[in-house]
Amino acid sequence: MTFRRAILCSRNRHKARELEELLPGWEIEPLDRDDYPPETGATYYENARIKADFGRRSAPGEWVLAEDSGIEVAALGGRPGLHSARYAPEGAPAIAKLLGELKGVEDRRARYVSELVALSPDGEELRGTGVLEGRIAREPRGSGGFGYDPVFVPDGEELRVAELGDDWKNRNSHRARSAKALLAALAGALLLAGCGARHASGQRQLSAFFAGTKLGRTWADRFPHKPGSKPCTAYDDVAKRQVPATCSTDVALQQQGRVLATFSVSWNHGNRVHAWFVFLHRDGTVQSVTREGEVQPAATTTS
Ligand code: IMP
Repeated sequence: MTFRRAILCSRNRHKARELEELLPGWEIEPLDRDDYPPETGATYYENARIKADFGRRSAPGEWVLAEDSGIEVAALGGRPGLHSARYAPEGAPAIAKLLGELKGVEDRRARYVSELVALSPDGEELRGTGVLEGRIAREPRGSGGFGYDPVFVPDGEELRVAELGDDWKNRNSHRARSAKALLAALAGALLLAGCGARHASGQRQLSAFFAGTKLGRTWADRFPHKPGSKPCTAYDDVAKRQVPATCSTDVALQQQGRVLATFSVSWNHGNRVHAWFVFLHRDGTVQSVTREGEVQPAATTTS
């Protein structure tokens, strides 16, 4: 099911395909233009925002996605980093140049970084960051992926990304991680929109989120689609059985950029109350916290 179409401000079809896999329910169309502004930002985020602003001007009224990524090599002081795409023509020439610079160098540590920016049709910005740590191999191998993938060996793996294949990449890459962070930020923003405070279409967007993403589908039946509570069941690991519980959705923007949404499950076992919270932060990180405490009369909402 497609619930959002987004314009990806990049000519890189590999990235569009990867992001379509990573953002379920989104149809992603690369913006194939040859007049992109120069990437003059001092950070990946600034470069992604430059591309996103260009996309916004080219496609008003659309969701716009932009990504900036690069590879940072420890022994080169973090180069090529922001300049990865311009280091040398992509593929064999860039790899040959990198291996040449690392000739005889023992420290092979490197990391891929991905910064994703999404602009909603009304201009709200959402961000997600992802990092994949690894090392540079001494010779290229494999045919999957693109760019430096034939020489990049992720931490905990023996094979290069180009050998590990697209499924591995879709689960673990820096872009997979930034997309996951963006989804979490999006979930938070849509929940906030679901309060009805800021966008008339908020409730519709929120329902679309619950229906259209993996995260949303998991939570769709369990949690209310707007702030509130409803009966559900939970596994009580003290009682070792399913028990009646209350599933609640709450939105609390306590400080700018802090917690956006809380999903909690609470139930009563004996004289204790157990609650599970998922915090969706504005920076895209997700935190899950379990709390146990004494029963507070107002908090024991088992049905
Ligand atoms: P961008 O299009 O300005 O973000 O440039 C990103 C550059 O970083 C690419 O041209 C590649 O050289 C490198 N890069 C980013 N992500 C990957 C990846 O997943 N595999 C291999 N190289 C990558």
